[in-house]
Amino acid sequence: MKQKISKAVFPVAGMGSRFLPATKATAKEMLPIVDKPLIQYAVEEAVAAGITDMVFITGRNKRAIEDHFDKAYELEAMLEAQGKLELLRTVQSVVPKHVNCIYIRQAEPLGLGHAVLCAQPIVQDEPFALILADDLIDGKTPVMKQMAEVFVRHTCSVLGVQDVPRASTGQYGIVSSNNLEKDIERVYGIVEKPTPEVAPSTLAVVGRYILTPRIFHHLENVKPGSGGEIQLTDGIAALMAEEQLLAYRFNGIRYDCGSKLGYLQAQVAFGLKHEELRAGFAEYLKTVV
Ligand code: G1P
Repeated sequence: MKQKISKAVFPVAGMGSRFLPATKATAKEMLPIVDKPLIQYAVEEAVAAGITDMVFITGRNKRAIEDHFDKAYELEAMLEAQGKLELLRTVQSVVPKHVNCIYIRQAEPLGLGHAVLCAQPIVQDEPFALILADDLIDGKTPVMKQMAEVFVRHTCSVLGVQDVPRASTGQYGIVSSNNLEKDIERVYGIVEKPTPEVAPSTLAVVGRYILTPRIFHHLENVKPGSGGEIQLTDGIAALMAEEQLLAYRFNGIRYDCGSKLGYLQAQVAFGLKHEELRAGFAEYLKTVV
């Protein structure tokens, strides 16, 4: 199997109903954290891992994502004419020149597993990264880069995991595992959104995966599961019966930007890290808390 991960899949066809009305006419992945949309953080993480082909699984109302990663002729001409060269550079460097963006429409919202299956014609028989943009992870070393290193050493599928409070297991894919080495677990079970009473552990999958192409075969055969959807977790469970599967406790802070509280936490954390805003924002926060 190819060792180098060159493709990343971004499922972005979700409704974003938790952020209505903000997401009525635009994608939730376009919601900004300070001055960059969530999807751009996700793409930058993939680029940092050496990935060159970005595969977006889109749906209705997602035009803004395609426009964001496209050249913006009028805007660039205007910024140039106004001499706003720094802003021009910001706009032009949204994606590096060597990166390709590929868009596939998921016609029906049949679940995350189905969205991933839509990437098969592009990914074909290569291992690939899967990034859920609403899990924003701030790592000194970008998390997908950390995971790509685990993949190179073990040549098998790798799930990004972290411990969550037992009360929250119903929001995640939860794994059963044995420790293999520092930060790496060998997974022998995975279940989608178990209630706290039946959850086999509190180790949760949080929006970062490296998967072998064999996953497509299993996703084709998965029956609708939790919530009536084709669940990626069920495909991964079937894959695990055939191939080694690892879970990696990544280094980094994860913000659940699929929830309003997590989204606000990310705004605060990234606001406090932002070069221009840091000092003024910290001062302001002192006055309100
Ligand atoms: C999805 C997956 C789940 C995973 C989670 C991570 O759920 O189905 O296994 O733990 O992402 O954020 P969703 O958040 O889309 O309901």
